[in-house]
Amino acid sequence: MSDLPAFGSPVRRLFQLEDGAIYLNHGSYGATPKQVMLAQRRWQERLEAEPSRFMEREFRPGLRVAAERLSALIGVDGRAVAMVENATQAVNAVLLSETFKPGDEILITDQTYNAVKNAVRWVAARSGAVVVQVDLPFPVYSDDSIVEAFASGISKRTRMAVIDHVTSPTAVVLPVARMIAAVKDAGALALVDGAHAPGMLPLDLSTLGADWYTGNCHKWLFAPKGCAFLWAADAVRGRLHPTVISHGFGQGFVAEFDWVGTRDASSQLALPDALAFLAGFGAKRVREHNHRFAIEAGQRLADAWDTEVGSPPALTGSMVTVRLPEGLGTTQADGLELRRRLLDEYRIQVPINALAGRLWARVSGQVYNQTSEIDALAEAVLVERRNAL
Ligand SMILES: Cc1ncc(COP(=O)(O)O)c(C=O)c1O
Repeated sequence: MSDLPAFGSPVRRLFQLEDGAIYLNHGSYGATPKQVMLAQRRWQERLEAEPSRFMEREFRPGLRVAAERLSALIGVDGRAVAMVENATQAVNAVLLSETFKPGDEILITDQTYNAVKNAVRWVAARSGAVVVQVDLPFPVYSDDSIVEAFASGISKRTRMAVIDHVTSPTAVVLPVARMIAAVKDAGALALVDGAHAPGMLPLDLSTLGADWYTGNCHKWLFAPKGCAFLWAADAVRGRLHPTVISHGFGQGFVAEFDWVGTRDASSQLALPDALAFLAGFGAKRVREHNHRFAIEAGQRLADAWDTEVGSPPALTGSMVTVRLPEGLGTTQADGLELRRRLLDEYRIQVPINALAGRLWARVSGQVYNQTSEIDALAEAVLVERRNAL
């Protein structure tokens, strides 16, 4: 018998989640443990006890401790890791730091996160670069089909590709190493948007071959909101700048990113406490538990609805996408309305997306979730369908 804490309802009290609410959307906005929020509050109190001393002496060393602790988890040198507020900011920093010529191609996919697509389009429009978007297969049955679809968008003009580690609308764990290799073979640059990956998947950035990798710590690593990282390979780090240019400009990567103006960085400073919370459960144990939960939840829902899951276990992390039964609509607007009803009538929080003319629910599994919550979702959807007929 392990001494480690059990998952499910016993750990729910460690979070601030409302009583009676069914939260199956850790993937969009992770619930932060109470003890991590207390740690964040302690940083804020330290700041306010002597603001000048804190900002001038304590703030940047604290950020570096956070970056160092994180770097051990992702297999890189902490000096190559910048703490940023979120993955969107990191992607913008990379895009704005690179120079694109008219005709250069930036490769994305239909499943690229919408905010990232917008940033790519904005940078392309300003430089005359061309955005090439390929469709990835979904539902997906093999990683070969993903690599093939992705590689079809690579050309001699490809300058950069943005590769999701875990896709947002479909929750598919993409074969990033193979996709990066295809990009590098073409002499282009690979930016990995790993917004969901830290805490969900084992990460060793030193062997992945990417030029940049960003990941959120405020999703699956339990950090407070506003905590993410951007790692850059040696070859591109020197020309990488934050989205805000401040005092550190020209003084190197760490100096530039660590000071982007006066701010409350308590969420980043509290990262070591979030990592300690995770270590208390065992990071690998949490990953494996959440993966198993997602797989079982997916199968349970697909059985109840007589439908299918969107990806095989090997391409699934801690989130799973399940097709909803017919009769609930087919459009994104239908999905939004059903999502609203599930929240307002049943207190179930779960994103629903229209993909290839069908509605799919994306279910996240985190340590505080229970099988009974999956059954409640299964039943609520069936009631809604009966009412819709
Ligand atoms: C693939 C992907 N990229 C980027 C983001 C953006 O994350 P943030 O809002 O923390 O910048 C998300 C958020 O869910 C995401 O799923």
